[in-house]
Amino acid sequence: MNTVQIAPSLLAADFADVVPALDAVAAAGADWLHLDVMDGNFVPNITFGPKFVADLRTRSSIPFDVHLMITNPDMFAPLFIDAGANMVSVHIEGALHLNRTVTEIRKRKVKAGVVLNPHTPASSLDAVIEDIDHVLIMTVNPGFGGQSFIESSFRKIASVRKLIDDRHPGVTLAIDGGVTEQNAGKIIAAGADFLIAGTSFFGSADKAATVKKLRSGA
Ligand code: DX5
Ligand code: ZN
Repeated sequence: MNTVQIAPSLLAADFADVVPALDAVAAAGADWLHLDVMDGNFVPNITFGPKFVADLRTRSSIPFDVHLMITNPDMFAPLFIDAGANMVSVHIEGALHLNRTVTEIRKRKVKAGVVLNPHTPASSLDAVIEDIDHVLIMTVNPGFGGQSFIESSFRKIASVRKLIDDRHPGVTLAIDGGVTEQNAGKIIAAGADFLIAGTSFFGSADKAATVKKLRSGA
């Protein structure tokens, strides 16, 4: 497996002071900035839209990993790509025309990801795995940072790893929700190669050390 990639989630940063947060993510040696887009409909919280992402883009060159927790990804994915997203991930539960959605994202030379909620089985990827670049498994119920990792997720991580290895090696497998320095090793051992960390990154006094520990699973 490739080196584990680390994506701090801006959700855990101070939204009134985001530029220092962007700088901290880059300075810590992280690979991506994870941006959680919530619409108050697909999830019970609201964050930000394409303008915010476009404004962030002018302040940082770190790749943007945009996680859409919204009911209308087809309408908004292109707007987030125009705003500077390097990868856009959409929930499988909300998608009516998933093949069209991911095809449109990839047409624009951006990586396309599919997200599974905690109750959504690995088998739901069966008809789409060849057509995507990235799978994101939610290990908390989406909507909020700072929740605890759902322990029953480990089996699903292993199943999705096997599906990727069998059918589309090279697809990255991300875990989002409750990732900490303590559980990173077990998550990586189960098959993940991309860790999203909100609270554990922004709550850390030594962010570079946290990135190293998350990456190595140590
Ligand atoms: C939750 C978001 C996550 C969140 C993770 O809906 O998708 O990306 O920021 O936060 P932590 O790492 O605090 O669980
Ligand atoms: Zn997320």
